[in-house]
Parts: sequence; structure tokens; C-alpha cells
Amino acid sequence: MKQKNIYPVFDRALTRSDKEKFMQQRSKVLWFTGLSGAGKSTLSIAIEKELFNKGYVCQLLDGDNIRSGINNNLGFSIKDRKENIRRIAEVAKLFKDGGIIILAAFVSPTKEIRKLAKSIIGEDDFLEIFVNPPLEICEERDTKGLYKKARRGLIKNFTGISSPFEAPKNPLVDIDTSKYNVEESVEILLEAIMPHIKLK
Ligand code: ADX
Repeated sequence: MKQKNIYPVFDRALTRSDKEKFMQQRSKVLWFTGLSGAGKSTLSIAIEKELFNKGYVCQLLDGDNIRSGINNNLGFSIKDRKENIRRIAEVAKLFKDGGIIILAAFVSPTKEIRKLAKSIIGEDDFLEIFVNPPLEICEERDTKGLYKKARRGLIKNFTGISSPFEAPKNPLVDIDTSKYNVEESVEILLEAIMPHIKLK
């Protein structure tokens, strides 16, 4: 016997809005931009945990899971960085259309590159977060030892040293992580983010 269809939603393909309702969230792309060592990954990881504890479903995208897999054929020329970001933006868009909140942490150094990401993702869904400590602080931290190598000329086209970084003009948040610890930074960022991801 044919089962009665009690859920009208089953008559059609599920939409982003169905999934957002199910997860009680609005899917947005939180785009962390900034120099290497600025704190993008640290903050996006910490924010994912906070949001998870509040019941929000997120997906992290950063160099570790993107440049080692889908983008492992790309380097750091401007052309490759553009292709890196184009693919990431397309992936972020797919997650977003599935109702998931994306935390994307990428240097994405130029206005043109971030504009491309924004145009793929959609202006209303792209929330730009500028993780913005002074270059000297990133260099001092040198978490991966890359600045030292870049200064010695061992790494070409290194952002902030031998390749440009253009500051975003109107980010949702501009945070100097040299002034706050991780907990404080998370608090500042969440205050700005929550109104955008809360289902009204
Ligand atoms: S992006 O410019 O294409 O957005 P992405 O965020 O994927 O860069 O990768 C940046 C990370 O790769 C840095 O945090 C750093 O660890 C590493 N890296 C290696 N070479 C470079 C380089 N030439 N410039 C910047 N980052 C580099």
C-alpha cells in the first residue's frame, strides 16, 4: 500500500530554507582574511566550537583541508591563488546551499580575489572578517617558520614580504588579534556574527 505523504516537503527537492529550518540556523559564509600567522585558523576553530555548543552546524575550510586535497596542484602565484579561492568559494557555496555555516580561513590577499569569492558566494551571504594584527606580530609569532624563510629569500611570493596584501575596505569586523586573547576575540566576533546566523 502506498504510504500517505504527510510531509508536503517530500513532493519536491529539499531547499536551503528547509535545511536552515531543520538546523535552526541561517547559512552564511564567514570569510576570514589576513596574513599568515594572523590568527585566522585559531579563531575559526574556536568559533566553530562555540557555535557547535550553541547548536549550530558549521564546516571549516582552511589550508589544511583544501590545499592538501582539492587544491594540491596550486601554488602561490597570483593566478594560482585566484584559482585556489575560486574553487574554495564554489565549495563554500555548495555547503551554504545545504544550510551549513562555513568558516573559511584563507589569506585571500587581494581585493580582486575576495571580490571573486563574494560574487560566487553571493553578496548577502558573504561575511568578511579581517584578522588584522600588525605584520611584525605575525612575523614574531612565525608559527610555521615561514617568515624567516621568506626573509632569507627561500620562499618566493610570500604574502606581506614579497607578495602584496590589500586590506579589505568594509569588513564586518576588523580585529587586531595582538590586542586580545583568543577568548576575547571570539566574544567580539560572535557579537558581530550571531545576528546574521540566527533564524528569526
Ligand atoms: S591564498 O593566498 O591562496 O589565500 P592560503 O590561505 O590558501 O593562501 O594559504 C596560505 C598558507 O600557506 C599560509 O598560512 C602559509 O602557511 C602557507 N604558505 C606557503 N607559501 C606561502 C606564500 N608564498 N604566501 C603565503 N602563504 C604561504
